[in-house]
Amino acid sequence: MRIAIISDIHANLPALEAVLADIDLVGVDRIYCLGDVIGYGPEPRECLEVSTRFDVNLLGNHEEAVLYDPIGFNPRAKAAVEWTKQQLMSTSLPREETAALWKHLASMKQTHEEGDIFLAHGTPRDPTREYLFVQDCSDDPEKVEELFDSFGPPTAFVGHTHVAGIFTPGPRFQSPEEIGGKINLGRENMIVNVGSVGQPRDGDPRSSYVIVDQDELEFRRVVYPVEETQRRFKRTPLPENLALRLIEGR
Ligand SMILES: [Fe+2]
Repeated sequence: MRIAIISDIHANLPALEAVLADIDLVGVDRIYCLGDVIGYGPEPRECLEVSTRFDVNLLGNHEEAVLYDPIGFNPRAKAAVEWTKQQLMSTSLPREETAALWKHLASMKQTHEEGDIFLAHGTPRDPTREYLFVQDCSDDPEKVEELFDSFGPPTAFVGHTHVAGIFTPGPRFQSPEEIGGKINLGRENMIVNVGSVGQPRDGDPRSSYVIVDQDELEFRRVVYPVEETQRRFKRTPLPENLALRLIEGR
């Protein structure tokens, strides 16, 4: 079975459409999403609507913030959460449509386990909040080793930092470029960050996601019209820097 695993769409519809076109091209059986469909970007309703078609939808910290409270968000992210919430509660759209979106949000699970894979938004032990950063390998290796003990199957997939790559015991991080874009998933523990569809932060503005085919893992990058997303930001009161950062992938 071929599975596309995507994450952190962040209400960037042109990016999501480009990734779904690429997924169509390569052909998969299922699409799993690790959360943060909304937040930061200009089209939360539209992206949520598309996500109802995915086979698995996990809860991200931005969905959690909209459903409950924006704990630990900086002022800009908080402003985006408030605006997103308004869009999702808009009375100018059919009530049934709005109710369906909130029902969809409320149905999102924190984790998903299936065969040899475990999925979470942040980390396996703290699915919506904790970050696993590249620098943790040198600054806090114990934390990374603890994380390898926090899930059952050999491979865990996460998002949240918007930086794609693989973490292996040691601990060690390797970017997709360092492994030639592909790697075999063995019995050894691995935590894979799939990167972000709608707001990459590794200096490459292209959307990031992965394809898993049995024990083969492939990282993919997809060009999308960043300027189009930036134009759509202009129709909203969202902070300008959220649009500007997309061009640099930071
Ligand atoms: Fe995110």
